[in-house]
This record gives sequence, C-alpha cells and structure tokens, in this order.
Amino acid sequence: MAMVERVFSGVQPTGNLHLGNYLGAIVNFVKLQENYSCLYCVVDLHAITQGVDVWGGPAELARNTREVTAAFIASGIDPKKHIVFNQSQVPGHAELTWIFNCVARVGWLSRMTQFKEKAGKDRENASVGLYDYPVLMAADILLYRATHVPVGEDQKQHLELSRDIAQKFNNDFGDSIRGHGFGDGLFFPQPEPLITGPATRVMSLRDGTKKMSKSDSSDNSRINLTDDADTIAQKIRKAKTDPEPLPTEEKGLETRPEADNLVGIYAALSGRPKSDVLRDFGGGQFSSFKNALVELCVAKLSPIAAEMKRLAADPGHVDQILIDGAERANVIAEQTLKTAKDIVGFVRKR
Ligand code: TYM
Repeated sequence: MAMVERVFSGVQPTGNLHLGNYLGAIVNFVKLQENYSCLYCVVDLHAITQGVDVWGGPAELARNTREVTAAFIASGIDPKKHIVFNQSQVPGHAELTWIFNCVARVGWLSRMTQFKEKAGKDRENASVGLYDYPVLMAADILLYRATHVPVGEDQKQHLELSRDIAQKFNNDFGDSIRGHGFGDGLFFPQPEPLITGPATRVMSLRDGTKKMSKSDSSDNSRINLTDDADTIAQKIRKAKTDPEPLPTEEKGLETRPEADNLVGIYAALSGRPKSDVLRDFGGGQFSSFKNALVELCVAKLSPIAAEMKRLAADPGHVDQILIDGAERANVIAEQTLKTAKDIVGFVRKR
C-alpha cells in the first residue's frame, strides 16, 4: 500500500501568537497547501499540560482555540481544501498515545530538553502530561500517517522522537504489520521535519540569545499577531541592537545575535534571503533599517490582524470550521487506529 504524502502540524492555544509562530510555522503551512494534503491542528490537549495558571482556565482555552483557528484562516489556510480542527475533538489522538506510551521508553523522554525547560527546578511537581507531551505529538502526526511536518527549530528533538516511535512500532510488530497487508513491514512512515526559511528560530527583541516566546513576561520581547501598527513600531524601535552599522555580508552577522535576528525577520517577511537584505541595508545604521522593518511588518501583519478581528466577532463561523474539520480528520484517524489496534492484537467485533 503506497503512503500518501501528507502534512500535519499543530499550534498550541496558549495565547499570544507571535511572529515566531507565524514565520517559523504558519507561513510554511500556507505554502505547503499547494503540493500536499494538509491537516492543521489546534492542539488543545497539549495546551493543558502545564498548570491552569499557565493556560488560563476554560474560558481562556476556548478563546485561544478560536484565536489560533482565526490566525490560520487569516494567514491563508483554506479549511475547505485542507483540514483545520482542534485535537480534543478527535478521540484517536489520546487513544494512539496510549499505544505509543507502551512503545516509547522512559529514557527517551527523559532526554527531552523542552520538558526540562518547562518543568524547571520543581520537576516532581510537573504534570505527567507534560512529560508525555512528545508522545502525544507523535500520535498527532502518525494518526494520519503524515509524512511531512513543518515546525520551528525548537521542535526538532520532538520530531526525532516521533521517528523513533514510528520505527520501534514497525520493528516490534513487523510480522503482524506484514500479516495485515503491509508487505514492506512499514505501517507508520518516518515523518520528516520541514524546518525551512530564514526564520526557523525567531529570537526575543530584548535579547538575541533567547527564543521569542509566548511565555516571556515582557510583551516588548515579541510581536503578537494581534498588535496594532503603533505597537509594532514601538516594539521594533525599542528592539535591542548593537552600536555597529549593519554588515554587508552574512558572515558579519555571526557574532551579532540581535542584528542577525532582525535581518532574519526582514528576510522572512519579504521572502528573500538574508544576503539580499544586507545588499540593500548593509553599511547603514539600524535606525533606517528599523524604519523599513516597521513598514514591512505592518504591511504584512495588519491585514492578518484585521481578519482575525473580523473572525473573533463571528465565533459561530469559526466553530463550524472546527466541527467540520474534526469530522473529516476523524475519518482518516479511525482508519489508522483500527488497523493499529488490529496490528497490536486487540480483539474486536468483526
Ligand atoms: P507551539 O504552539 O509552541 O508553537 C507552534 C509553532 O511555532 C514554532 N515556533 C517558533 N518558530 C520560530 N521561532 C520561534 N521563536 C518560535 N516559537 C514557536 C514552533 O516550532 C511550532 O512549529 N509542540 C508543538 C505543537 C504540536 C505539534 C504537534 C507540532 C503538537 N503536536 C505535531 C507538529 C506536529 C509546539 O511547540 O507548538
């Protein structure tokens, strides 16, 4: 049976969608629609893995779920041609996670750097869900037997774990997989991470060595997708830089994280390589480059913010997109899960 080339990716509804999420992930989601069949998921099961104080409680979760959906649509994802849905509405995600929990090894999970970062010093007090987060991610992807996964750089290690889980499942159940008609013994594909573009790791505007993040306590560290033009201008003008003029070649960015970050953002927003941007702005002062960056950022982000606002006023429409998407996702999910359960040997009614 030939594998369909399929894209899956997810975004957590935990508030403050920012330029990093947009350039590292969503822009690529939009592009991939041309050549793949795509599923884009609002991962609400992942969102609750930290304390309620972090994700904000039920009303906030619902609001953020609709907001991420609106951001997908406003950025150009077509929910009719592709599938947009929220994870909790397709029960297969949680069910396949259980099977994968019994395939993945504790040692693999204890190497996950994001768990260590998020759990912090008080690891004993982290939720079991936070520890299991990467296994749920593997289930998200493999429930649709997706082959390609567009993500930012920070998800690379999780994607490697998904590949390990797919491989170990195929190895552990090889004979049964062949017995179910998969002659090559490969039931799950090894999903390939797509970490592409000049902004796979957008950094904080206040500190070029720290990732731009939803959870940074300083709102000035990030540009939110819903920021208005004045706020964007203020944040970029305040962004940390160094006293040197911009270099004329990319090599000159190597030891200058803040300059590198702003040039990377400009490159990603304009769809050009960094070397092109430096050809235009190299040798000049940051102030004029920042003015151009403000203009570009506002031109690209304000139509998205306006559409998100319009959609926020019509939650019924957004909910309908999610309901319709979940129904279509569920058709694929049920088929995979049924075969996966047969492969493992769970008895069922025939
Ligand atoms: P989340 O919501 O934290 O991030 C969503 C996407 O945004 C990317 N990203 C960034 N890219 C560049 N620069 C940044 N500063 C930056 N910050 C975030 C993330 O890499 C991600 O692609 N665990 C995933 C959600 C998920 C998922 C999946 C992804 C759940 N299941 C299955 C792929 C496949 C996450 O971190 O989401």
